[in-house]
Amino acid sequence: MAKHFTLLSLLALTCCNIAFAFETKPLQDFCVADPNSSARVNGLVCKNPMLAQANDFSFSGLHVAGNTSNPFGSRVTPVTVAQLPGLNTLGISMARIDYAPWGINPPHTHPRASEILTVLEGPLLVGFVTSNPENRLITKVLQKGDVFVFPVGLIHFQRNVGYGNAVAIAALSSQTPGVITIANAVFGSNAPIASEVLAKAFQVDKNIVDQLQSKF
Ligand SMILES: *[C@@H]1O[C@H](CO)[C@@H](O)[C@H](O)[C@H]1NC(C)=O
Ligand SMILES: *[C@@H]1O[C@H](CO)[C@@H](O)[C@H](O)[C@H]1NC(C)=O
Repeated sequence: MAKHFTLLSLLALTCCNIAFAFETKPLQDFCVADPNSSARVNGLVCKNPMLAQANDFSFSGLHVAGNTSNPFGSRVTPVTVAQLPGLNTLGISMARIDYAPWGINPPHTHPRASEILTVLEGPLLVGFVTSNPENRLITKVLQKGDVFVFPVGLIHFQRNVGYGNAVAIAALSSQTPGVITIANAVFGSNAPIASEVLAKAFQVDKNIVDQLQSKF
């Protein structure tokens, strides 16, 4: 009986320690990021709530089209906690994405967020690839007003498949979703991954890897 009790107590303790150590929801009304604090926490330190102003919860300029004059023909304008300190601890952020005709937002993944995208001007070809071993491509052409979701962590992309400019607004389930652009991460890492590794991984000649590494 005594032994049984001890085991239960241990279980209860373990459970409660976990509950105290991890809380997925904010523990106060808000926690406007204080960019000046040198303290390291999972997120950013809160500034004194009495000093919070409306501007801490606001961002202006998402009506302005991004400059798409670049090799990809697209531009992401992010609104994460870096641009909007009031997002700190709230687990959300957003972005405007502009696409020149036939421009692409190249294959990338957000390690910390799912993404829900609304097309303001299309048409936009979108897709994501499921994890190994299926690696199934799930893809669709979206029109103005259509909404599409990219599940957390999966590689996805968009392409403007029209003759005019396209625009989308994306919402993400993290204040800092993070971006890993596949080509940049693999071929443009700092320092570079040994070309022998990439040549074997991609089953191509080392020259092709050298060429790709010189571009990213
Ligand atoms: C951070 O420091 C700068 C410069 O001292 C100051 O202007 C700004 O108000 C500070 N920000 C916060 C949130 O305390
Ligand atoms: C857009 O970016 C290109 C390339 O960086 C630059 O030459 C051009 O001046 C920019 N256009 C505007 C309107 O800022």
